Amino acid sequence: MALETPRQQWNSSRYAENARFVSDLGEPVLDLLNPQPGERILDLGCGDGALTEKIIAKGADVIGVDASADMITAAKRRDIDARVVDAYQLNFEAEFDAVFSNAALHWMKRDPDVVIQGVRRALKPEGRFVAEMGGHGNVAVITIALCATLENYGVENSAAVIPWYFPSSEEHRQRLERAGFNVEYIELIPRPTPLPTGMRGWLETFAIPFTSSVPENKCAAFLDDVTEILRPALCDASGQWTADYVRLRFLARLASD
Ligand code: BEZ
Repeated sequence: MALETPRQQWNSSRYAENARFVSDLGEPVLDLLNPQPGERILDLGCGDGALTEKIIAKGADVIGVDASADMITAAKRRDIDARVVDAYQLNFEAEFDAVFSNAALHWMKRDPDVVIQGVRRALKPEGRFVAEMGGHGNVAVITIALCATLENYGVENSAAVIPWYFPSSEEHRQRLERAGFNVEYIELIPRPTPLPTGMRGWLETFAIPFTSSVPENKCAAFLDDVTEILRPALCDASGQWTADYVRLRFLARLASD
């Protein structure tokens, strides 16, 4: 069975229940952004706005954009200027002192260069692009289990279903430099991450492209199988699940005009 790659779907309630740790662990990239009062900042892939709110609290003037209408509705409930925008079609022109992004860029696998070019256009001269995303090796064990189980369910070429782009620091540095950025800092950071609602909660939130690739009446069995493959590697004796996260964090700046 060969399938067209299904898309990830976002549900803000499920995200809040299973993935609040994503914004809770965003403090280091916020520190790297170091937002200043009065700065205009674009939060690219703002999700439900939990981190956007923290940037606003520093006195910056922030616009949040996300491709998911449900996430944008949740962000608006926080009183954020939040808009449904496709990251491949950013149409801001030299408006922002900084573009910020947390845990979103790895979903923009189709053409990362187009996204980076849109970020460059959105920035003023000397503007900075500060982001954290999954880096090379991120959720590698989980990905192997998902792909191997998909193959067991008859999906050929399971690697084509992988919806994420996890570059090495060198690969991403080159992309940023090709787009005209000066990379001031880039680092790959292994960060084993405890999962508050276990592997099942994580898979139900983030692995939709995989579950959508099996018939609906087999989804629960598919998730059970993936969970059992992962248990010896990622679940400890107390029942605590930890995901094999690796972050890529960077600060890149445009030259003055
Ligand atoms: C991440 O934030 O690294 C991530 C989130 C969902 C799926 C894969 C990776």
